[in-house]
Amino acid sequence: MKLWGGRFTKEENQLVHNFNESLSFDQKFYHQDIRGSIAHATMLAKQGILSEEDARAITDGLEGICRDLDEGKLVFTKEHEDIHSFVEAVLTERIGEAGKRLHTGRSRNDQVALDMKLYCRDEIDEIDGLVKALLEALYAIMEENLDTFMPGFTHLQKAQPVTLAHHMGAYFEMFVRDRSRLADIRRRMNTCPLGSGALAGTTYPLDRAYTAELLGFDGPTLNSMDSVSDRDYVIELLSALSTVAMHLSRFSEEIIIWNSNEYRFVELDDAYSTGSSIMPQKKNPDIAELVRGKTGRVYGALVSILTVMKGIPLAYDKDMQEDKELTFDAIDTVKGCLALFTGMIATMTFRKDVMEESAKHGFTNATDVADYLVNHGVPFRDAHGIVGQLVLHCLEKGIALDDMTLEEYRAVSPVFEADIYEAIRMKTCVEKRTTIGAPGRQAMEQVLAVYKEYLGK
Ligand code: ARG
Repeated sequence: MKLWGGRFTKEENQLVHNFNESLSFDQKFYHQDIRGSIAHATMLAKQGILSEEDARAITDGLEGICRDLDEGKLVFTKEHEDIHSFVEAVLTERIGEAGKRLHTGRSRNDQVALDMKLYCRDEIDEIDGLVKALLEALYAIMEENLDTFMPGFTHLQKAQPVTLAHHMGAYFEMFVRDRSRLADIRRRMNTCPLGSGALAGTTYPLDRAYTAELLGFDGPTLNSMDSVSDRDYVIELLSALSTVAMHLSRFSEEIIIWNSNEYRFVELDDAYSTGSSIMPQKKNPDIAELVRGKTGRVYGALVSILTVMKGIPLAYDKDMQEDKELTFDAIDTVKGCLALFTGMIATMTFRKDVMEESAKHGFTNATDVADYLVNHGVPFRDAHGIVGQLVLHCLEKGIALDDMTLEEYRAVSPVFEADIYEAIRMKTCVEKRTTIGAPGRQAMEQVLAVYKEYLGK
């Protein structure tokens, strides 16, 4: 049965119905739809637009529908166009006349705008929790690895020594910003569109501020045409989720590299790796690869919604129904990625010895040799040249800077003394970097204290 059957004389063609319907996917937010309807009925009763009796019957009826859907006692049937029509039809079937009064002073246009906002808001809260859990896992790794030395890279070439805590700290910063982006979006979107009607408000004396309050919004939206056609917050959310996915993808890429036979910096837990059907020796980082790969779907959703919205005139147009599947998919994808990724890094083993050994053998302390010379009065440009010669010498002999004899050092520059070895030890190189943001223990401890407070530990 159609909500709008009255004006029509022909039965709807089945193909048209299938093309037009959204129940197959907007059933996902039946909780939000029902929550919104209960608030609407409560407000209508407060304003005397609906009798207390009808409002009670509606509220009880809606709660019963919600319970039955949760428990699988009520199932969605294809003949309904969307979740709004479905709920209203079942309600009327169950409670009679009162059910038909629920839609007073409301349109599906402001109803769907509300449902989508409520859904996105609920999901933002869930995603925020998942990002926080990831930050907790990162924090635990950082706390344990303030002295785990590893090479820091630029151009994927060993550059200078850092620590594992410092490297993880870079991702900690990224995910903190992701959370703050989500919080910004939540704050900006937190106004209630209900009461905007189809596009021009209604003639009923609604108390929109009251409905907004019942649903936990900061207040009602201020323009009814904007209210039914605004999907900016969906775009912002998909953009923030794209950034989360991008961060997870970069991190996954590093884990894939670190897990490779060549690097062996990490060992993935068996539970988070998979084998090969033909090569018995394989232990593949499928989870990290999938997280990296799924990023494409999330970006795709963002580009889709931007494209859907770019040409539609005010106010509501059916194009906007296209916002749902892609948003749902992007949200579910990012939630899945966050949960799996956190599990993967929390169970992963870091091969500290391999990391440190790797840092030793990439001339990562070359800058520190130059700094040593500068501290002994040699101009930096000259020091750079001297160290270049030392590196060449080491490369020929297949040794590290730490392995050269003092004679070999002095043959290139008489400035070198026996204290050069202490000056270029990995530990010294890192510890000397004490300005805030650097990997030295002193700086890292300050940063960890900030993170601890941030996480409410
Ligand atoms: N399923 C529709 C959507 O998702 C609900 C709003 C329908 N409104 C309308 N005037 N046909 O956008």
